[in-house]
Amino acid sequence: MIVILTGAGISKESGLATFRDADGLWADMRVEDVATPGGFRRNPGQVLKFYNDRRRELATVAPNAAHLALARLEAEWPEEVLVVTQNVDDLHDRAGSKALLHMHGELLKARCQACGAILPWTTDFGLEDVCPQCRGQGVLRPHIVWFEEVPLYMDEIERALSRCRTFVSIGTSGNVYPAAGFVRLARHAGAQTVELNLESSQGAASFHTGLYGPATRIVPQWVEETLARRRSGLG
Ligand code: APR
Repeated sequence: MIVILTGAGISKESGLATFRDADGLWADMRVEDVATPGGFRRNPGQVLKFYNDRRRELATVAPNAAHLALARLEAEWPEEVLVVTQNVDDLHDRAGSKALLHMHGELLKARCQACGAILPWTTDFGLEDVCPQCRGQGVLRPHIVWFEEVPLYMDEIERALSRCRTFVSIGTSGNVYPAAGFVRLARHAGAQTVELNLESSQGAASFHTGLYGPATRIVPQWVEETLARRRSGLG
């Protein structure tokens, strides 16, 4: 089994900003204002606007060669390939990845804080919106995992990490836990670990190997090499 962790760097060349690069989202916005439960309690309008803007932006971008290469790997690899993404965009989904876990939630979903419903949500979000299931008003929030909250699918992800033979981290700075700790769990389970990133991340020393450059070049290259090794009986 191959487990692939992705972060904002894989979507950068599609036109979506990363978080911690010099031109990233956290250069202009304070995390505590727009990505914490307290920020939402203090100023829900500001938080909804932040995610409305990003949801609108999604309609203007498309999956790039890196997303497409991962979908190809899943289709052609004889064993399981699981993509675990920290990204809340839907570019892996649109590229065709099927075994995909959005551990930090999804921009195109809303969650009802009253009845727990998780709802498809493709338009702007307002404070006056009503939950279509329980009819409650003022109870919807973006289906996004904020700082101080627990990521989704952790049991499933940890099970996959405990039995993968290869773990690949793509386009993530390795700043945010628990995702930043996955490489150590995979290594503990005996997996080969590979970092694919624009530059070596702060966790680079934890990986067996690294390949550095823009995702649209290095991810298709790594997928091609991985499939070729398998065809020749070496992988
Ligand atoms: N190709 C490959 N990697 C790239 C590219 C590119 N074209 N452009 C940037 N990168 C790399 C950067 O060098 C950096 O290491 O992508 C990484 C992006 O790091 P972050 O901005 O920190 O994004 P990410 O790791 O996904 O953030 C994790 O933090 O704020 C939270 O919840 C948010 O899911 C997010 C989490």
